[in-house]
Amino acid sequence: MSEPFDIVIFGGAGDLAYRKIIPALYRSYCEDKLPASSRVIACCRNEDEQLSYLSHVDEALQEHLAEGEYHSDHAMIFAEHVHPVVLDIAESGERWQSMADLLNTYSQRVRVYYLAIPPAIFGVCCQHLSQYNLVDEHSRVVVEKPLGYNAATANAINEEIARYFDESAIYRIDHYLGKETVQNLMALRFTNVIFEQLWDAKSIDHVQISISETVGLEGRAGFYNEAGALRDMVQNHLLQLLCLVAMESPHKMNASSIRAEKVKVLESLRPMSGEEVKRHTVRGQYVAGNHKGKLVPGYLEELDQAHSSTETFVALRAYIDNWRWARVPFYLRTGKRMKHRCAEIVIQYKEVSHRVYGGDTGALAPNRLVIRLQPEESIQLTLMAKDLDTLDMRLQPANLNLNFSDTYKHFKSDAYKRLILDAVSANSSLFIHRDEVAHAWAWIDPIIDAWQNAAQEPHLYRAGTWGPVESDELLAEDGFTWFNAGEQR
Ligand code: BG6
Repeated sequence: MSEPFDIVIFGGAGDLAYRKIIPALYRSYCEDKLPASSRVIACCRNEDEQLSYLSHVDEALQEHLAEGEYHSDHAMIFAEHVHPVVLDIAESGERWQSMADLLNTYSQRVRVYYLAIPPAIFGVCCQHLSQYNLVDEHSRVVVEKPLGYNAATANAINEEIARYFDESAIYRIDHYLGKETVQNLMALRFTNVIFEQLWDAKSIDHVQISISETVGLEGRAGFYNEAGALRDMVQNHLLQLLCLVAMESPHKMNASSIRAEKVKVLESLRPMSGEEVKRHTVRGQYVAGNHKGKLVPGYLEELDQAHSSTETFVALRAYIDNWRWARVPFYLRTGKRMKHRCAEIVIQYKEVSHRVYGGDTGALAPNRLVIRLQPEESIQLTLMAKDLDTLDMRLQPANLNLNFSDTYKHFKSDAYKRLILDAVSANSSLFIHRDEVAHAWAWIDPIIDAWQNAAQEPHLYRAGTWGPVESDELLAEDGFTWFNAGEQR
């Protein structure tokens, strides 16, 4: 077990804290990773919130942990680590002084400041941490998207934090990087010679990276309608996955080497503007439809507005203009209220260069590697093999399956637990560097500008489907189809 630490959750009674941070810390406790005397200091906005905090923590655990994970005796001992305090983040004075006194009961320990608050108050929060001498070599600050609305606002947020914290103490979370299979993607690429040799434009035909969700707005209408799918999912999660698929091998698995390679990929993304955006991107918005036999409302109904041009779906074709990936299309797609919840990366290999079998042996399917991050974590490689049910030479695709959920039955994957514990132990390799944020926005901003200039409404798609037909057409133009969460084509 590591040394005791303190984690301060600014926005302790907010949605992120209850849904993700508190369950992650409970899991850490259950795995003996929350050493005795470690404290979870949760900032509440007023006394009422403070008084009811522990019972809300208990409810949140029951609601957000997976089946079988909640144990009331564990939850009771975990609650002893939790210290709700009242703090007005924006006001210096008595409350901040009490916070400082509380933290200073242990002066030499690691302190993680988790800013689960709107970015508009990141600056004042960091300023008060500094004013009350709470920033030292043992402290780190964790922040999370939305990190800005475009390159300029992201830069302003990063500047504010940088006034008080060194870049090495800033941990920008993209929770997709904490997913176990994402790290497995790096293990797969960089520790297996068979993939190392077959990971470029010579062997790979195209790549699909898709995150489909079945949920709608989940009570975040205000934020989402301002942001849309491109800012909410593509600027961060999808581009991060693209970086991990496309980057060169870092010379070491440490933060600076990994980040340097990711930045090179982002810099190599072919910029799009005007006509290119029209040709290479599709925006969609869901209307009412069926999901698992139930009627679900459309976006505008959920939003309770007569009109909105916000996209809840994006599909796009991207190119990485470098030696390794020249002319290989990367198709990115994400959407809300789609048919299945799934996040996966599909590496589609080229066809064999010469068909040695003549006659009617069945169609030859190119090899395909599917790395699935959720709902279950698995890696599947499709190969061509002989059909053993007949003496004739018939060929058919056969799958090599590596299903981590079967192999690691007791393992409970939790990206937040992993990332919080990494921040505690000062391992920033799975966090985002400021340069990555800037480069990602630099690629995204012109796409948004082009959409705005074209003033084109998003294409409509029915909830419970794979998005607008225009998304299928985008791939069909190149002779491909979406993999669609394993649905056979
Ligand atoms: C968040 C987005 O970053 O990721 C949400 O803001 C989205 O809109 C969520 O629902 C998806 O995360 P996951 O881990 O459930 O796929």
